[in-house]
Amino acid sequence: MAFNMSEAELKDSTRAFLDSGPKQLFINNGWVAPQSGEYFASLNPASGKPLAEIALANEADVDAAVAAARAAFKGHWSQKFLAGDRAALLFKLADLIDAHADTLAELETLDNGKPYRVSRKGDLPYVTKHLRYQAGWADKIEGSTVPVTFPNQFVYTRREPLGVVAAIIPWNFPLLMAIWKLGPALTAGNTLILKPAEQTPLSALYLADLVAEAGFPPGVVNILTGPGLPTGAALAAHMDIDKLAFTGSTAVGAKIMEAAARSNLKRVSLELGGKSPNVIFADADIPAAVRGAQWAVFSTAGQECVAGSRIFVERAIYNEALDALKGHVEKMQVNHGFAEKVHVGPIITEAQMKRIQGYVTDGQKAGAEIISGGAAIKDLGDGYFFEPTIFAYQDDSLPLVQEEIFGPVAAVTAFDDWDELIQRANSTMYGLAAGVWTRDIAKGHNYAHQVQAGTVWINGYGMIDPAAPFGGYKMSGFGREMGKESIELYTQVKTVWVNTYQDTSKPE
Ligand code: NAI
Ligand code: MG
Repeated sequence: MAFNMSEAELKDSTRAFLDSGPKQLFINNGWVAPQSGEYFASLNPASGKPLAEIALANEADVDAAVAAARAAFKGHWSQKFLAGDRAALLFKLADLIDAHADTLAELETLDNGKPYRVSRKGDLPYVTKHLRYQAGWADKIEGSTVPVTFPNQFVYTRREPLGVVAAIIPWNFPLLMAIWKLGPALTAGNTLILKPAEQTPLSALYLADLVAEAGFPPGVVNILTGPGLPTGAALAAHMDIDKLAFTGSTAVGAKIMEAAARSNLKRVSLELGGKSPNVIFADADIPAAVRGAQWAVFSTAGQECVAGSRIFVERAIYNEALDALKGHVEKMQVNHGFAEKVHVGPIITEAQMKRIQGYVTDGQKAGAEIISGGAAIKDLGDGYFFEPTIFAYQDDSLPLVQEEIFGPVAAVTAFDDWDELIQRANSTMYGLAAGVWTRDIAKGHNYAHQVQAGTVWINGYGMIDPAAPFGGYKMSGFGREMGKESIELYTQVKTVWVNTYQDTSKPE
């Protein structure tokens, strides 16, 4: 497997997919043109050039997809496909994804920009690991029997699917986010409408043909492309969608809740942003902690919901740790995703680059000190590249410390004592993840218990596993993906009462 290649060396299947003309909407296992007749371009962030024309779904297309998903839910999907049958289809899909992994990884790198090595060796294997884990749940979704206080009543519960699920996902892990939603939604017996991010629709569209090939009945999986407005908003406001699963920004998450409340009270689960604290105590394995802190924020160019973007260092080792971090970061290669040497790929869009630059400029004006980086990179062509940037700061109220930048920017600060640390670590509106580096077991656990975050890593950072529940505290959202919690997210409980009274008295 070559990781250094030019775009001229793309697989024939990737090239054929890109060259096959405008991409349509996937409804009822077939490709249909958007009713608006409108298309938009998905760009390659490493070059700024368009990769393909993509259909823009409007309200009428959303209606058509919902009708297809509803019909499939009422029809053979929920009635003819038993748990084991659904699992078999999901396993088949995982096998097909494995067989097409090179092409999917190439599309991911073209569309999102991330290093090909990361797409191929990170995202793709994890996609199928996740799908297989979820498929394994299909025949383990159990109810319970309930010991009520009434006599002669047998009470049991069933976990039933919700119905039609819509998933709106972001651009940072395009295929992985699609599977995080598709896996549990279908495992539990729902049907799905997936809206990939407008910046990165290609891998989901390629997946569509694999869904049909795997043998899912028409309407079980539908894929609509388009931006937040009108496509995402039409899904959020639809009267016949039972659940909306969202990953993205906190601002849009709030809009989705509002739309759900104003329409049909559809269930909502939100995995939103973060501003995760990563703490290095003086008693830590310092080289490992510094390396860990480096990758926690700069892999994926900081475009990761769990990015460890606030680094707290105990004062006794602050200078030593900051120097070591600076040394490592300055050796990181920023490049396009197919380059031989690349640690950090491009930023997703020009708008996002400008946003990052804004935080950096404002941060400097407000008195934070740039230790490393701080500028856009101009000599890599027309793509959107930004230097890995380290800020040193004291003032927790700075926007660059409070807000999710979603770029390669780390904010580093010194702390003196425990209470100060806990207060400052918890001082943002977010609570997605946290890291702590220490050789003191008690300290590590106590920190993990006091920090407000859905996931905490002690002496590590960033591991996410299909078996381990994942989701946010505070404004990082609610609902847990992964693990058995993911099944709860895509089912509802029905309680059934059975009168078992039997008249056993002898007739007179
Ligand atoms: P976004 O939240 O706007 O987009 C995520 C998804 O929501 C996309 O599919 C988009 O089309 C859709 N969407 C946008 N507006 C919508 C609306 N009104 N109704 C329904 N769907 C809508 O995120 P964006 O603009 O890509 O990035 C902005 C910031 O959001 C980032 O800088 C980062 O801070 C945060 N973000 C967090 C992510 C995470 O993994 N938690 C992922 C992506 C972004
Ligand atoms: Mg793109």
